[in-house]
Amino acid sequence: MKKPDMKEARKRQQKEIKYTKYKTKSNKFGNNKTYFVRTYGCQMNEHDSEKICGMLESVGFKKSEDIEKSDIVILNTCAIRENAHDKVFGFLGVLKHIKDTVNPNLIVGICGCMSQEEVVVNELIKKYKYVDFVCGTHNLDNLLTLIEQRIQTNNRQIEVLSYEGDVVEDIPVIRESKYSAWVDIIYGCDKFCTYCIVPYTRGKQRSRKKEDIIEEVKQLKESGFKEVTLLGQNVNAYGKDIYNDYNLANLLSDVADTGIKRVRFVTSHPWDFTEEMVDVIAKRENIMPYIHLPLQSGSNKVLKLMNRRYTKEDYLKLYNSIRKKVNNSSITTDIIVGFPGETEKDFNETLEIVEKCKFDGAFTFAFSPRENTPASLMKETVSEEEKMDRLHKLNEIVNKYSNIANKKLEGTIQKCLVTDVSEKDDNKVCGYTENMKLVNIKGPKSLIGKIVEVKIVEAKSFSLDGEYVK
Ligand code: SAH
Ligand code: SF4
Ligand code: F3S
Repeated sequence: MKKPDMKEARKRQQKEIKYTKYKTKSNKFGNNKTYFVRTYGCQMNEHDSEKICGMLESVGFKKSEDIEKSDIVILNTCAIRENAHDKVFGFLGVLKHIKDTVNPNLIVGICGCMSQEEVVVNELIKKYKYVDFVCGTHNLDNLLTLIEQRIQTNNRQIEVLSYEGDVVEDIPVIRESKYSAWVDIIYGCDKFCTYCIVPYTRGKQRSRKKEDIIEEVKQLKESGFKEVTLLGQNVNAYGKDIYNDYNLANLLSDVADTGIKRVRFVTSHPWDFTEEMVDVIAKRENIMPYIHLPLQSGSNKVLKLMNRRYTKEDYLKLYNSIRKKVNNSSITTDIIVGFPGETEKDFNETLEIVEKCKFDGAFTFAFSPRENTPASLMKETVSEEEKMDRLHKLNEIVNKYSNIANKKLEGTIQKCLVTDVSEKDDNKVCGYTENMKLVNIKGPKSLIGKIVEVKIVEAKSFSLDGEYVK
C-alpha cells in the first residue's frame, strides 16, 4: 500500500522526470467484462478518463451504460472544492447499495485528484471498505496492474505517489469526440495559488516534449480531427521546465503549422502570458480567438493573499492587449468570492473590473478551504451567507455582459464546427463558433464533423440559435 502525503507533495525537484513509453499489457484479463467511468473534474480530468477507457479497452473491457451490470466502476475524481468531494462520497453510497443488493462482485475504484489527498484516502481506508482500489494521478499508467492484482488476490489495492510520476507517452485513449481532441502539453502546476490544491494533487510542472505533441496533433489531423485543445493547468508555462528558448508561442506556431483546422488551449495564467503569445494568437488563422483568462479577484490586496503574482493593473493591460490585437476575440474568466480577508470594498473592486472587462462569460465560485493549502490556515472572514450574496451579485453582472456579448452576434455569419445533434432539439445540430459560443443550428445531421457557415438568428443566455448557410 502506498498512501498520499501532502507535505511530500508540496516539495519540488525531488526526482528527475523521465520520459517513458506506456507498457502495453498482453494479458486480456478484461475479456467479457464491462466498465463504467464517471468524471468529476476539469478538462485534464476528462482527458484522463479517456486514457482510463483506453487502457481498460486495451485488455478487453467493454464500455457499459448500466452501472448495475458493470464489472468495474471507476470514479475519476476532482478535489478543487468541497462540493466536488461531496458528490463523490454521495455516489459511493449508491455504489455500496448496488454491491449490497444486485452486484456483490462489482469492483469500485477511485482515481483522480481526490486520491492524492491524505484525509480522503485515510477515510476510504477506515470507512469505505467496499472501495477496491485507489490509483493516484502520478501512476495512472499503472492502473491495469492495480486492477489485475485486485482481481487475482482479492485484496484492496492502494497506490498513490506523492512525488511526480514520469511523463508517459502513448497511453491508449478512447476519445469522446471524433472531431475535437484534447492534447496534454504540460502536467502539474508550480504556481501555488494559496487557495488551490492542484499543485499538491498534480505535482510539479512537467512539459511534454514538443515533438511528441506535434506528432500527436499530426496523427489526429490525419484521422479526421478538425480541432485540438492543448491542455494544462497553466499552458502559458509550457516549456519552462525543459527548454531555454521554446515556449507556448513557439508551440502554438508549430501546432498551427500542422494545418489542423482549429487550435485551442486552456488554461492560461496571466503571469506567464507574454505579448509574443498574444501576437501568435492574433496572427495565425487557425488559432482560435478564445481565451480563458482567470482573474480570481479585482482587489490587489486579495490577489496578493492569493499569491496570484499580478495586480489588477497587469491583468487589465494584458486583457486590453488581447482585445486590441486579436480580432473577434472572446475572453472568459474565473472568479472566487469570499476569500479570507475579502472585504466589501475588495469585492466591489472585483465588480468594477467585471464592469470594465465585460467578459463573454465567467465561472464564479465561493471560496472553499482545501486540505493543506495556505489559505485553509487563514482565518475565514466572510460568512457562507455573505459568500452566497456576493456570488449572486457577481453573477448578475456576469450574466448581463455575457448576454450583451451574445446579442452582438445576432445577424452575423459565424463559422461553426458541428459536433453533435443538439441536446435541446433532435431536429437540430450543434457546434461551437471560433470564439467558443455554443450554437444550436437548424440544419441536417450530415453537417456533423464539418466546419460550416451559420447565420446567428437569436442570442439566448447560454447559447445561440442559428441557421445553416453553407
Ligand atoms: N489552472 C487554472 C485553474 C484551475 S481550477 C488557473 O490557474 O486559472 C479552476 C478554478 O477553480 C480556479 O480558476 C478558481 O477560480 C477555482 N478554485 C480553485 N480553488 C478553489 C477553492 N479552493 N475555492 C474556490 N474556488 C477555487
Ligand atoms: Fe491552481 Fe493557481 Fe495552479 Fe491554477 S495556477 S492550478 S489556480 S495553483
Ligand atoms: Fe479538479 Fe484535479 Fe482538475 S482538482 S480541477 S480534477 S486538476
